[in-house]
Amino acid sequence: MSILPRSVVIKGTGSYTPDTVKTNDDLAKIVDTSDEWIFTRTGIKERRIAADGEQASDMGAKAATQALSNAGLNPEDVDLVIVATITPDMPFPSTACLIQTKLGITNAVCMDIEAACSGFLYIMEVAASLIQSGRYQNALIVGTEKLSSILDWEDRTTCVLFGDGAGAAVLCPSDVPGTGLLDFKLGADGANGEVLYMPGGGSANPATGASIDRRLHFLKMRGREVFKLAVKVMEKAAKEILEQNGLNSDQLACVIPHQANLRIIELLSSRLEIPMDRFYLNLEKYGNTSAASIPIALDEAFRDERIKSGDLILLVAFGAGLTWGAALVRCP
Ligand code: ACO
Repeated sequence: MSILPRSVVIKGTGSYTPDTVKTNDDLAKIVDTSDEWIFTRTGIKERRIAADGEQASDMGAKAATQALSNAGLNPEDVDLVIVATITPDMPFPSTACLIQTKLGITNAVCMDIEAACSGFLYIMEVAASLIQSGRYQNALIVGTEKLSSILDWEDRTTCVLFGDGAGAAVLCPSDVPGTGLLDFKLGADGANGEVLYMPGGGSANPATGASIDRRLHFLKMRGREVFKLAVKVMEKAAKEILEQNGLNSDQLACVIPHQANLRIIELLSSRLEIPMDRFYLNLEKYGNTSAASIPIALDEAFRDERIKSGDLILLVAFGAGLTWGAALVRCP
């Protein structure tokens, strides 16, 4: 049962991935790895890499244009733009302001929110709450990442896992009760921050010759620890949101998980007792696109007709922070 006082629905979605494909065999030419190792450990076959000069805001603007068109809205109808990214074009202005300008949105409040791979669920709850408050009508939410810009292309333990891309959704109020975004369960645990982080580039380690020599401006990860925590927090969030809504997993038509690693998703599937064929997967093509992962998958699932009107779906993610989240959606 919905705890939200005013229904908020996903009116349209969009996604964009760059044209350049980097396969596992391509990576084996630059680091000591193999297609066999990457595919069996992660389920990833290839990923997309942004062109030189193609920024997170460019990819986000393309996904957002598609989402607005699918929602049947014009840029002037949007009064709220929220972007989730860990690879903004620059520390400021926000990527939301850059996307606003690229789309010709003239009458909106714009901000970025950072929750790494859980970012899209975080901005979805924030935007939904602001629409429910009655102060905003039409929100454009965008997850966009140029992770290739923060990967250490000499570190085989991380560079094989990630890719670039963007996804977007338009959220609007609805008069139909019990439809749209039914509930959220978000969480965070800063005590585990150092399992996945980028030490350089902020005020702690601004860019200097020494910080660059120490490779501080690249993503660092303790993969095994992240793996275990990911399964634990996603299982917890999914079980809690189902329980607090009096639902069981049989009622879910589809689960859209953060696309980080097939083995993580398989373990989640067995712990939740939801068969793998009800999980939507596209990580084989894109790798982990962080905040863009869920909205790209959501858009593709709508377009592939894996989800349709009336379906109950579960979105579930984890990311650096640590952060995590689950959302229940009844498709309008
Ligand atoms: N190719 C070949 N060998 C490799 C590679 C590679 N690309 N990477 C690591 N290895 C080696 C290691 O060096 C190690 O060798 P050793 O035994 O000689 O020391 C061996 O493979 C095993 O390494 P592990 O780290 O134990 O491998 P594991 O089975 O745990 O898989 C992986 C590693 C895929 C990173 C896994 O731990 C994982 O997926 N973790 C979660 C990562 C994740 O989801 N991160 C995203 C977080 S979301 C966000 O917010 C960005």
